[in-house]
Amino acid sequence: MLWGGNYQGDPDRAFWEFGASFGFDRRLLAEEIAASRAYARALGECGAIPREDARTLDAGLAQVLENARAVPGYLDLDVEDVHSFVETRLGEIVGELAGQGHLARSRNEQTVTALRMYVRGACDRSAAALGALVEALCDKGTEGAEAVMPGFTHVRAAEPITFGFWAGAYAWGFARDRERFQDARRRANRLPLGSGALAGTPLALDRMALARELGFDAPSPNALDAVSDRDFAAEFAFACAQTQTRLSRLSEELIWHSGPEFGFYRLPDAYTTGSSLMPQKKNPDALELLRGKAARVQAAVQRLLVMQKGLPAGYQKDLQEDKEAVFDAADTVLGSLPVATGVIAGLALDRDAMRRAASREELFAATLAVTLARDGLAFRRAHHVVGALVAEAQASGRPLREVARERLQAEHSGVAARIDTIFDPDEAVRAKAAEGGTAPETVRASLATVRGLIRS
Ligand code: ARG
Repeated sequence: MLWGGNYQGDPDRAFWEFGASFGFDRRLLAEEIAASRAYARALGECGAIPREDARTLDAGLAQVLENARAVPGYLDLDVEDVHSFVETRLGEIVGELAGQGHLARSRNEQTVTALRMYVRGACDRSAAALGALVEALCDKGTEGAEAVMPGFTHVRAAEPITFGFWAGAYAWGFARDRERFQDARRRANRLPLGSGALAGTPLALDRMALARELGFDAPSPNALDAVSDRDFAAEFAFACAQTQTRLSRLSEELIWHSGPEFGFYRLPDAYTTGSSLMPQKKNPDALELLRGKAARVQAAVQRLLVMQKGLPAGYQKDLQEDKEAVFDAADTVLGSLPVATGVIAGLALDRDAMRRAASREELFAATLAVTLARDGLAFRRAHHVVGALVAEAQASGRPLREVARERLQAEHSGVAARIDTIFDPDEAVRAKAAEGGTAPETVRASLATVRGLIRS
């Protein structure tokens, strides 16, 4: 135990188990040891301990990490947390000197230093995994840059778009999620070490050098803030939650559109499972889990915010609750992204099914109204006229294009003559050529831009 000089007897056993965090914060062992080694060296540099002692501590700490990797059962120790574990094991190697590594240092700064290092790494890994997903969407979208399909609003077919355009919508969203991790990383990357318990350190530590050595951009500017701050954790969890929420939306859409009622594409077998009863089934379990797991990642944000809300400045044990929420959010997103990437890469497009669905007449009503407006009718009026044509077609059971050709003959003969072109999905998407639109050339350019962005 790291304390106990003014205690008699042991802590209550149930409380001890309740309060210990080593069960989960052992995941921060590598970060804790890296930070402790740098701190030991910094103690030597500033003359707080003899350089020889600093070297002994540094080597001992390296040995603890090595043992944790190589010696079976090395982690089976009844300690309070990862910081206690390291000091205890270090004591077995270097004796009482182990305590000197803790000179003027508090676990309050250690725990948040290690967590920041973990979050920084998790931001990098999430950004990389998002990059791979965006690449897959760009590849598949380029493959289907010309493939027309219906675009939806209110889950009702609205206007023809291309598959590439649809894929691009998600690619741009995931590219923003990637940026969000990069932003979160910047704010996480401040070094708390040198904050002491809350008031700073009396030692002449070169905190900037310590920060650089540990890959931080700078030391934290206020010790009390440094030990209290968990907004970097909540922000990381939000980046995870937004990503998982987008994965959930993507999954929902893929589930519908790969089903027999739509049939726009087939999911790769490797990401579906069979039914124990119904031999014909290929269930989209992977996608359902991507969607279902959005709940837990969203909950992580909530956990981190609610955990903080009543806390005064300074370390309180409540803050120990930060780690499991962060780990769970990171594990879930990092487990999800490669699965989503695999599903996208393996989609088998059914261009005919998409084209059939994109050729349904009602998808061209808006284009017809715009064409009439360009033929001299005020747009609101044109909208009304086409609405009436749709109603007539539905009431009479005749195709809209026949009704339109007939009714527009007298006053808009030019439009009537071009009806087949207006009702052609390829024409419809080609017309949306302005930046951001669904025209195949525009889509190809947009996919190339987002690809460039994530590679930069
Ligand atoms: N295990 C603790 C945590 O995760 C470390 C800090 C404990 N500090 C203290 N004074 N109790 O937050």
